[in-house]
Amino acid sequence: MKVLTVLCHPRRASLTAALAGRFRSGLEAAGHAGELADLYAEKFDPVLLPPDEPDWADQRKRYSDAVLAEQARIERHEAITLVFPVWWWSMPAMLKGWIDRVWNRGWAYDGGKLALTRGLLLGVAAGSARSYEGKGYGPAMEAQLVEGMLRFCGVPEARLELFHDVLDDDPIRGAALERAERLGREFAV
Ligand SMILES: Cc1cc2nc3c(=O)[nH]c(=O)nc-3n(C[C@H](O)[C@H](O)[C@H](O)COP(=O)(O)O)c2cc1C
Repeated sequence: MKVLTVLCHPRRASLTAALAGRFRSGLEAAGHAGELADLYAEKFDPVLLPPDEPDWADQRKRYSDAVLAEQARIERHEAITLVFPVWWWSMPAMLKGWIDRVWNRGWAYDGGKLALTRGLLLGVAAGSARSYEGKGYGPAMEAQLVEGMLRFCGVPEARLELFHDVLDDDPIRGAALERAERLGREFAV
């Protein structure tokens, strides 16, 4: 399977980037292929301006070349994984802006849908699993990101995996890296 891995982190030396790398190693070990989209390294502009604003009267609006290129990159793949740090119980503005601009009307919804069979979100969080469940952040992220983005845009196999307590210590980070690799290896079994 061809899996597009979208990495969103300002530093290549971050845990988030390392998790994306280990996830891709797991994918490769299982015989999958696919590109890496490193949004910060590529200097993606996440600000939605009028050329990429949906035309509610015309589903077939032509969007900017930058957006068409991103859509073509997604179309080269059968599945997608977004790897990002949890910022304010959601994804960073860079990744949110990528979705705002690229998963656009007529292509991702209303007249089109993402031609992807699987979508996996890997969120990297300082908070504990307990706090996410106790305060409802986990269910809120499920509703917003899994239902509201992936399934809304027609991705049938969609899920969120959170890595918790990642600021704590090396064993936790080591276990997170192993888990990321396993998620890659088991991505499509
Ligand atoms: C702007 C900002 C907002 C954050 N918001 C949250 C949050 O809502 N929940 C949480 O668990 N961690 C939050 N954190 C902590 C990050 O998730 C944590 O720094 C990151 O996952 C660590 O991984 P990294 O080393 O790859 O950056 C936030 C960090 C930043 C910089």
